[in-house]
Amino acid sequence: MSRRIKGIAYAAVTTVLLSAALGGCGLAGTGSGGREAQTSKEDALTIGFAQVGEESDWRRANSRSIEDAFSAENGYNLLFEDAQNVPENQIKAVRNFIQLQVDYIVLEPILETGWDTVLEEVHEAGIPLIVADRSLDPSYEEYYDAWVGADYLLEGRKVCSWLQKYAEQAGLEPGELKLVNIQGTIGSSAQIGRYAALEEAAEANGWTLLAQARGDFTQAKGREAMQELLETYPELNVVYCDNDNEAYGAIDAIEAAGRVCGRDIRNGEIMILSFDAAAQGLTEVLNGRIACIGECNPHHGPRVREIITKLEAGETFEKIQRVEEGIFAADQTVKTVTAEEQEYPVTVVTEELIEARGY
Ligand code: AHR
Repeated sequence: MSRRIKGIAYAAVTTVLLSAALGGCGLAGTGSGGREAQTSKEDALTIGFAQVGEESDWRRANSRSIEDAFSAENGYNLLFEDAQNVPENQIKAVRNFIQLQVDYIVLEPILETGWDTVLEEVHEAGIPLIVADRSLDPSYEEYYDAWVGADYLLEGRKVCSWLQKYAEQAGLEPGELKLVNIQGTIGSSAQIGRYAALEEAAEANGWTLLAQARGDFTQAKGREAMQELLETYPELNVVYCDNDNEAYGAIDAIEAAGRVCGRDIRNGEIMILSFDAAAQGLTEVLNGRIACIGECNPHHGPRVREIITKLEAGETFEKIQRVEEGIFAADQTVKTVTAEEQEYPVTVVTEELIEARGY
């Protein structure tokens, strides 16, 4: 049987197979984790997409981007599996895509590691694999055809550079900065890269890194983590959140504790730094509750589609594709940040900018 499954019959077969195959792992082809295959055309390519979950504004925008790029109108059958942030679910989803003999597998991995056997299985099945968003451990590089995503270490270095330059301008001594980190999913490349940048900067600049707490990239966990951190470390004055949703939760907890979010840490305010630059996050920059956000761009759909189009046409492309990203603040107190020997402009947030970005 050819690897390509075509035609109307495919959609029906897919729904049945996915339901049966995924039922045992808490996912279902059209249920909790799965979204039904689009109506298929005779020559449509079938894409199995293994998504992380729905933990954040970023993730929802990213899912929309993939769904738009691989719509039936654009000539694709998209099999969308949401692993609900459970690594085992994602491995099962990939195995089921192999069983279904999809044309391409697109994987946004929850974790960097733990992929040993299943990636060999994808390779043996001869299905091209495109990794997007978070990266895999470098030891897996031979198993995928392309990766497109963000440089999380660089994102972190830019935000840390902003903090260092802001502290210098405000006349703050390095030892005055008492930081905590609300971490994203432990072991995800986004968490690993952003934390590595923070650790490096704290050591280089003499900041006090008081503690890390799990936030799992969600608002609810961000709030919980912040509440506990405030109880244990009332002296903290900078919160480095691994994404905007954690920052929203941190803001809730800080204000519930009767404290104020802002940049005037000498007067008791708590400064929040974040990543993503979703509309609500940028609005909090305008309101002065978040001091600085390192952009993480979610629009990978068209990028992945371009790679697949090139693979279909037998054209060459860069295997590793890093997306360029910005950094945002409320004003130009810090005009540029410096990371990896390069200067990056800081973009001042305005209402027009938030509207134009649209997510
Ligand atoms: O992998 C990207 C990260 O995952 C984003 O920063 C976060 O919001 C998402 O859930």
